[in-house]
Amino acid sequence: MSALSDPTANATKSSGLKATQHALRELPHTADLFYDLKKIGKGTFGMVFEARTKGEHLQNIPKDTIIAYKKIRLPSSWTETSAEVNALRARQHDHVLPVLDAFVQPDISQQRNLYILTPLASGGNMENWMMSKETPNMPPKLDDPVFRRSFLLKSITSIAEAVAYCHSEIDGTWCGHYDIKPKNIFLFQGSAERWLWKLGDFGLSTIKADRDIGTIDEVGTSEYHPPEYYGNPKSHQYGPSFDVFSTGCVVLQLATLLVLPWEHSMIKALKSELSQTPKPFAFRDSGVNWSDRVSSRTRDEEVHLLLETTLQMMNPDTKHRLLAFDAALDLIRDCDTPDGHVDL
Ligand SMILES: Nc1ncnc2c1ncn2[C@@H]1O[C@H](COP(=O)(O)OP(=O)(O)OP(=O)(O)O)[C@@H](O)[C@H]1O
Ligand SMILES: [Mg+2]
Repeated sequence: MSALSDPTANATKSSGLKATQHALRELPHTADLFYDLKKIGKGTFGMVFEARTKGEHLQNIPKDTIIAYKKIRLPSSWTETSAEVNALRARQHDHVLPVLDAFVQPDISQQRNLYILTPLASGGNMENWMMSKETPNMPPKLDDPVFRRSFLLKSITSIAEAVAYCHSEIDGTWCGHYDIKPKNIFLFQGSAERWLWKLGDFGLSTIKADRDIGTIDEVGTSEYHPPEYYGNPKSHQYGPSFDVFSTGCVVLQLATLLVLPWEHSMIKALKSELSQTPKPFAFRDSGVNWSDRVSSRTRDEEVHLLLETTLQMMNPDTKHRLLAFDAALDLIRDCDTPDGHVDL
């Protein structure tokens, strides 16, 4: 599959998802779908479980498949999900978490729940990977500086490609994420030593916005939201540049790992060095100080170029912020050196 498509598509002409509505199928409350294996976690508006499928009712998922599913309580006013989920399902990319199946099922008390089934990420999410030493499963050779460097550069371009791809127009729609953060990026082991990051939760923030009436806290982790969000936290009509800022924040952290000795706690240390309390990137002069600190730790030209692109992604002025497609191309160019571009 091509990594990037339609360079003109992420222009501002699209205001969001207007996919043809194909109603999501509704399963009876009696349909017995999974053996729940464990609860993985809880987000702002749903719970995620690891489960084994029982085989009936699910589309294109064989019996006994281990999956992750997210269960979201739907408000009675809610109508939009099929557009969101269909737009998401139309997008298939190596670095986008696929939706295997999605449907609505009421529970015994008639509360309707949206179920979204995805592959289970064996390596967990990027935040755990960056912030803790207890990541369950990750590439074994990160102690090797050459491998680590390749892995980090590849991680940066993967995420940028995923965002550019989702912003590209398919069937007259582009897909905004609005909640890009390390916790929504998952690590999968492909064949042998091939590890892939996949961006998850695309499209869901619009469902979240339908539910939330309100405050900054209610729409999720705002640490990665751009400055314009703080001017109007209730609006979800921001456009593609919103995601580019958040992606820039993730890239900045990955670039930081490129210059630090390999210890998970280093990112945390850098964060607290910059500020005693966690602060949204939008209030950290959009990454300029952080980027200067990283830059001053290395003479590596590639890292300097990466940081320049990152700051263009985090430009506080949306008019001067890079588009996702241009950001991805620039990052691929920045990372494309004989040392840097190793196929993992
Ligand atoms: N496919 C998956 N494989 C493994 N873990 C997953 C998968 N999907 C979600 N998780 C984990 O489940 C937990 C809850 O995820 P969820 O998306 O509901 O919350 P969140 O990302 O913390 O917040 P938000 O609601 O803002 O997205 C997180 O720890 C997430 O990493
Ligand atoms: Mg999430």
